[in-house]
Amino acid sequence: MSPRAKGSEYMEWAKTRSQARFNLASSGVAELPLAELPVRLEDLELTGPSFYGYPPLQERLASRAGVSADCVVAATGTSMANHLALAALVEPGDEALIEEPVYGPLVDAASYLGAEIRRFPLRSADGFAVDPAEVEKALSARTRVVVLSNLHNPSSALVDDETLRRVGALAGRVGARVLVDEVYLEALFERAPRSAFHLDPERFVVTSSLTKVYGLGGLRCGWILADAASARRMWRLNDLFASVPAHPAERLAVVALDHLEPIAARAKALLDGNRAALQRFFDGRSDLEVGRLGAGMIAFPRLRRGSVDALCRSLREKHETTVVPGRFFGRAEHFRVSYGCRPETLAGGLERLGAALDGLG
Ligand SMILES: Cc1ncc(COP(=O)(O)O)c(C=O)c1O
Repeated sequence: MSPRAKGSEYMEWAKTRSQARFNLASSGVAELPLAELPVRLEDLELTGPSFYGYPPLQERLASRAGVSADCVVAATGTSMANHLALAALVEPGDEALIEEPVYGPLVDAASYLGAEIRRFPLRSADGFAVDPAEVEKALSARTRVVVLSNLHNPSSALVDDETLRRVGALAGRVGARVLVDEVYLEALFERAPRSAFHLDPERFVVTSSLTKVYGLGGLRCGWILADAASARRMWRLNDLFASVPAHPAERLAVVALDHLEPIAARAKALLDGNRAALQRFFDGRSDLEVGRLGAGMIAFPRLRRGSVDALCRSLREKHETTVVPGRFFGRAEHFRVSYGCRPETLAGGLERLGAALDGLG
């Protein structure tokens, strides 16, 4: 068994190395300034009745998801939601079967919790689609959880309901649950399917937050949807990890949820414009291989020749620009471009990315 993770290499890189004038590394829609949130001082309070959830926030999260409040566990971002969900689903020595490539901290959290990590591949040639046959091959009697992201990080591929159902049925054969990280799913806006939780609340556990799609990262408003018994276990585990959240953030999250429509409209307009600009850029580059951009806010092109590490170095050192090296996803020939930033940041970053690619020779 490999040693348990005691941190996340990707997260450390993201916190210490991704900042740049043209940051195309940080995923998420450009932050909404506090001034654009219609919050009044009287909406806020320092301390409040937040024990197993702050009731006004629980109600809003539950009604948005169309579930009862006892199936909602509030958490500090999708990060803590993933940690809590995994902690409730796996015991040391259990197997966690995780898609590959994937957002690294999902693997690190499962490893930290003592799970044995197994992977099933998603292939660039198939548009990073989940293939249930690959899941079936990698499942074992010891698998307790199958983990995937929808939309997929890093490629933004959508996992359709039929595929999710098939994965759920396969997991069911060995008594495993399916954890779906849906932090990017609402980037489909009015086209977003219902959460996978609704396909089978006894099989699927999902995590999400307001952080990525709405530019509300600082609120750290995340949640888990799980059957009521699992949700209770997660709340009890949270007593060991985080006790209660910062109450002002809960109050601000309530305000944000009550005004989510214009916040979503701002995000959608930004992403639609930026996606078109990035598509034009990709259309002009024969040195990159990438499928048509459909949804989300990240893309994962493959560099046809040359070294991604050299490209990233040149971007950082000569062009004030960052993207995420594919090695963090186990795909050294790819890199991840985020396009949730302000349009002028994307324009400047793409101009520099083009120059750095040309400079690879
Ligand atoms: C798939 C995925 N899950 C979770 C997170 C963390 O989200 P949050 O900021 O809500 O903790 C990220 C952040 O990039 C992510 O890409």
